[in-house]
Amino acid sequence: MSPQSTLEVHRNRFGADGVSYQAPGRVNLIGEHTDTSEGFVMPAALDLRTISVLSPRSDSTANVYSVNFAEQVSLDLQHLPCRPRGHWSDYPTSVLWTLEQRGIHLDGFDLTLSGNVPLGSGLSSSASVEVAVAVAALAHAGTALPKPEIAKICQFSENHFVGAQSGIMDPFTSCCGVDHHALLIDCRSLDYEALPLPSEVLLVICNSMVKHSLAGGGEYNARRAEVQAGVRILQQHCPDIRALRDVTEAQLRRCQGEMPENIFRRCLHVVTENARVLQAAEALRSGDFQQFGRIMHEAHVSMRDNYAASCVETDLLVELAARQPGCFGARITGGGFGGCTVNLVAAEHSDKFVHNVRAGYEEATGIQAEIYRSRASAGAGPLLVGQT
Ligand code: GLA
Repeated sequence: MSPQSTLEVHRNRFGADGVSYQAPGRVNLIGEHTDTSEGFVMPAALDLRTISVLSPRSDSTANVYSVNFAEQVSLDLQHLPCRPRGHWSDYPTSVLWTLEQRGIHLDGFDLTLSGNVPLGSGLSSSASVEVAVAVAALAHAGTALPKPEIAKICQFSENHFVGAQSGIMDPFTSCCGVDHHALLIDCRSLDYEALPLPSEVLLVICNSMVKHSLAGGGEYNARRAEVQAGVRILQQHCPDIRALRDVTEAQLRRCQGEMPENIFRRCLHVVTENARVLQAAEALRSGDFQQFGRIMHEAHVSMRDNYAASCVETDLLVELAARQPGCFGARITGGGFGGCTVNLVAAEHSDKFVHNVRAGYEEATGIQAEIYRSRASAGAGPLLVGQT
């Protein structure tokens, strides 16, 4: 739904003009499951996003209406729930709860949310909702915070309210995205560099339509726990190690005999993935897309075989992509266990790419993949009325 229509929905429902904000989803080019090890990632914000429209009320109620779910919840800001209930409203509620924890006082408001980031597809629909709520609520509270701080608030909300031990990458990208650029983020220092994405290559995202969910933890938290077990073993040899960010492949291999195979493999993925992100950044800086694509492929194999976070459908999408002319590289993107693949495709080949991958996927699985061509977009902020 367009910003204009969302504003109209808000006006019709709540009888007031609101102020509009937007927060994008993201696609991760490379650097999967490294943010939680204080490592490196290279995502880009998408032009798929959540729009939030807020107008003040004179009491202490927060009414939140979701256009996508066609449902409204009412929250008493003085007695916010402190537990998730497995409902879409957990995400907005979690942010209001965190703001309250941080001593940021909110008077009542009406809020309308609409979005086009596909849910549970590895494109950070949850971070985009959280950030869209956070920027609207902070403006309403009259509190200006640096964007990385807003990202930390959203990560805290997801970790401590929703229950997913997710990292900083998704909210950070949603907050700090740069038009036509990928972000090389150091998830330890939160320093980042915007790397230009040339217009002759496109980011094509293929949705396997197999849903994953990070809410409540599940496989995502289980992998994190395996990595933490690996870190504890490594620390017995090198107490200075704080996270896998501090570990080289050689160091890890020296401890292999002391680790169960699954723990070694999860750690091997993270350690080698960190190195791949830095190599991929070099390839992007020098315009070497062939090399970038090769590294993407290695990253996919590692996600599949070592981190065990791919699935048959995303593997198939990657295989189909690799056969297409003009495709430099393809890999599963995001948390995994379903969701999307990201593909780097020469612009002049992209129509054929989309057609062939869609047809091949449908023939093999009977599933119609959704395929998005997105440009890298700017991060969250206010939207001017009438802006599209
Ligand atoms: C999810 C999490 C991120 C990150 C990715 C995997 O998107 O929210 O923090 O860990 O998975 O790279």
